[in-house]
Amino acid sequence: MRAIDENTITEAALEQMASTPDPRLKQIMAALTRHLHNFAREVDLTPDEWLDGIKFLTAVGQKCTAYRQEFILLSDTLGLSSLVNALHDKRATEVGTKSSLVGPFYRQDSPTLKLGDTIVTKPTNGLEVCLYGRVFNSAGKGVPNATVQVWQPDETGNYDLQKHDPSEMDLRGTFHTDAEGRFYLRTIAPLGYMIPMDGPVGDMIRAQKRHGYRPAHIHFIIGAPGYREVVTALYLQGDEHIDSDTVFGVTASLVTGVNSKDPASPIPNLPTIKFDFHLPAAAAYGSGRVGADPSQIVKAS
Ligand code: BEZ
Ligand code: FE
Repeated sequence: MRAIDENTITEAALEQMASTPDPRLKQIMAALTRHLHNFAREVDLTPDEWLDGIKFLTAVGQKCTAYRQEFILLSDTLGLSSLVNALHDKRATEVGTKSSLVGPFYRQDSPTLKLGDTIVTKPTNGLEVCLYGRVFNSAGKGVPNATVQVWQPDETGNYDLQKHDPSEMDLRGTFHTDAEGRFYLRTIAPLGYMIPMDGPVGDMIRAQKRHGYRPAHIHFIIGAPGYREVVTALYLQGDEHIDSDTVFGVTASLVTGVNSKDPASPIPNLPTIKFDFHLPAAAAYGSGRVGADPSQIVKAS
């Protein structure tokens, strides 16, 4: 009979889990257990702190609804989502546009719109812009009929889900590229915003004296048959939080700007935001979005 102490407990737990038939589950749970035990030993975790952690995770779960995913927000603010993205990008067989976070405001089934349409459906004081670019493959050819899903906050930094009846979509749309891989649409320049701070993750951010802001950005999910889906976002240069994103989504290659005079704009006389995307060839493991429409995780009641 083994004597259980603060060190032998780890071996005991690992031994009991060794019967796990699924090798990946076995590997993940063993590593998680080792790291969790090492963490508790490193900080010399007290019973009160352990209970605070349990209460915190309970509150995170209780905050989750079909329109709010507090666990993903926790993962984002700990840098875990960004780390999983970076690991995922390394698996691609061809270099493509870098990934960024899906975030908690993605909705699948946004309205399908025609090139040149606007995604603005509510009255706005935002600066109207033409958002355009091309979707290329690794051979430098435009990808026709690629699906371009786009969503963003408004000029006050709010998403539709935060403003009105969450079932009414605004500032989102699904477009398809033309024969040359081009897309273009009307929208407004977004403003940066604070991540949702009214839950336990907000309490954590305040306790850490972090500002809680994300710089202004526009989200994209772009895909086409035969290509690996790119889940990313564009970030607007000049935003004061461009170098201190609370969820670590910004990377240099995804920073772009508003161009007030762009002779190449497909919609003349509008300021533009232009960005070209690169789709790697499809790989066996599929898309691997770090995130999801919250309603697919917690069903609406
Ligand atoms: C967002 O991009 O909307 C977002 C991403 C992660 C956490 C919170 C918000
Ligand atoms: Fe966002």
